[in-house]
Amino acid sequence: MPADDEDMETRLSAGEVIEPPTSFVEQANVSQQTVYEEFATEWPECWARAGDRLDWETEYERVLNGGDPPYRWFEGGRLNACYNCLDRHLGAGRKNKVALKWEGRLGESRSYTYLELYREVNEFAAALRELGVEEDDVVTLYMPMIPELPIAMLACARIGAPHSVVFAGFAADALAMRMDSSGSQYLVTCDGYYRRGAPVHQKNKADNARIKLNHDVDATVVVDRLGDDTPLDANEYSYRDLLAAHRGAEVDPVPRDADDMLFLIYTSGTTGEPTGVRHTTGGYLAHVLWTSHAVLDIKPEDTHWCSADIGWITGHSYIVYGPLALGTTTMLYEGAPDHPEKDRVWELIDRNAVDVFYTAPTAIRTFMKWGEEYPQQHDLSSLRLLGTVGEPINPRAWKWYYKHIGNESCPVVDTWWQTETGGMVVSTVPGVDAMKPGSAGRPLPGIGAEVVDGQGNPVEPGEAGYLVLTKPWPGMPLAMVEAEDWFDSRRPSRPALDDFDWAYFSEDSAAVDEDGYFTLLGRVDDVINVAGHRFGTMEIESAIANVEGVAEAAVVSGPHDLKGQGVYAYVCTADGYSEAELRDHIDDAIETAIGRIAVPDAVVFTPDLPKTRSGKIMRRLLESVARGEELGDMSALRNPEVVGELESAVEGEN
Ligand code: WTA
Repeated sequence: MPADDEDMETRLSAGEVIEPPTSFVEQANVSQQTVYEEFATEWPECWARAGDRLDWETEYERVLNGGDPPYRWFEGGRLNACYNCLDRHLGAGRKNKVALKWEGRLGESRSYTYLELYREVNEFAAALRELGVEEDDVVTLYMPMIPELPIAMLACARIGAPHSVVFAGFAADALAMRMDSSGSQYLVTCDGYYRRGAPVHQKNKADNARIKLNHDVDATVVVDRLGDDTPLDANEYSYRDLLAAHRGAEVDPVPRDADDMLFLIYTSGTTGEPTGVRHTTGGYLAHVLWTSHAVLDIKPEDTHWCSADIGWITGHSYIVYGPLALGTTTMLYEGAPDHPEKDRVWELIDRNAVDVFYTAPTAIRTFMKWGEEYPQQHDLSSLRLLGTVGEPINPRAWKWYYKHIGNESCPVVDTWWQTETGGMVVSTVPGVDAMKPGSAGRPLPGIGAEVVDGQGNPVEPGEAGYLVLTKPWPGMPLAMVEAEDWFDSRRPSRPALDDFDWAYFSEDSAAVDEDGYFTLLGRVDDVINVAGHRFGTMEIESAIANVEGVAEAAVVSGPHDLKGQGVYAYVCTADGYSEAELRDHIDDAIETAIGRIAVPDAVVFTPDLPKTRSGKIMRRLLESVARGEELGDMSALRNPEVVGELESAVEGEN
């Protein structure tokens, strides 16, 4: 059964309420029932509880400036994110504690203590400086899940150079677009990596991207992952040689204003090209530190495993910055969940005695399909808390996770947030709140969020509406900090929010229940969430439209039992082209423009696309066809005759 179809009724009905286990509550970082009230009455000063857990080079003057936008969090404060993630732990008795534990794809593992991580980050920071990187220069990082990725991030943070991490699975074109748009003149990549036993030549992709760029790349650093001594050209440097040349170097952390950019990350939206979301140093770090503490309940003694890829925001916030700011051990896993066997994840949790495990519903549904015999082979009793992120979790998967992984003794937090929010904004606080499978929870303490109708009025319990954030939050991106009219300029159409002084429209819809819990229902824009990865339909459409022989294409989300949503492409062919041949070309084109992860799950060839009288493609109708739903009123269609053909073509695909 497709996950997003699993009786929405169950998710929306009152459903089950599960109290957090007493044993958990007793040790939870945050367990006072009054936390919501305190944050509400003290807002915005409540956020000092997050800000004061950071070390500031210059103390901030105010938690939040004035009552009007532009909002500045921790105004007047100066700090360095790398200092907060590394240096300060050395003096706190943690220098020999493992900071980063890496499990590689070939079964290797490597651990870095805080001192070792500090040393390598300093050496690499010195190398970057020598290559010419200055404060505010954007450094692009294009690497898989290897320790050098977080090391490079922290080295950038140390010298005040914002990093732009590009997911390693993205294609050369996608890398070039991001480097162009950010004007990035420095690139750190690797020779290649292994994917399902076969090497992927990452450097070739990077080389192709550089050819396409409109500007020069001053220096490219290449990490040796395959061990095959890739020959280097001018302006290309070996990571290993650079470290050797800077052995023992120390670089003073550069103090940054609280609202100086820490990094930027590209994400998909409604437009054809992904946009760079820029995050701040002080507000962002405070937000991810606080939510790692309050929601993931991370303690310095813990081993924390977030299975996301660092190429996405989840990895930035909950593999790197949040956990390291708290001084915990964070795990980095390079491999696949079923290699060498389907018990790999549980074997890793068992062997590393993982305390907190944070993953995506798509992974949980896959584990569920493989069966509970795999987790049963291992001792998972080290686990204390489980989390999910990225898409709605259906109650069946939630319960499976709670029972078979958490042994009914670990709370499950379903955390709703976005690249734009920087960190979690809606979730239960596990030491305080009861859980409701399928429902994320209330806005976190200190977060203003509501579900409103098209007029901006809060919806009645049980009804669906738009999820809006009604108050600024520390992890908000720089674009919002800078623009007084951020909301108005970005979202002119809906909903009417005149009654709010300020609001951010998330593009998600949700329903809210009597207890104020939000049940997330999906995006209301043209963004598809495939296995927790975010794509704009426009991006995929333009890649398809470039294929010779394609007359027209429309991309929508369709059902997929594991990935939550799948990519469905409806394609009209030009005369004289064979569908079989086109299918291959379409897949290739997407792989080249974006990457393999965006290749459609179904390509439906059709003589025509359903259009309104004014010529607009009716995407909602295409989505309904993909889901096999009732189609309802089609009077707005110019060409209703196409619908029958579409339905039979989709059946053929499924
Ligand atoms: C979706 C990932 C339901 C949502 C952190 C959002 C979720 C988009 C949840 C952001 C959740 C994320 N329940 N839906 N717990 N978490 N989403 O920017 O549609 O990659 O807008 O950030 O993922 O995706 P992004």
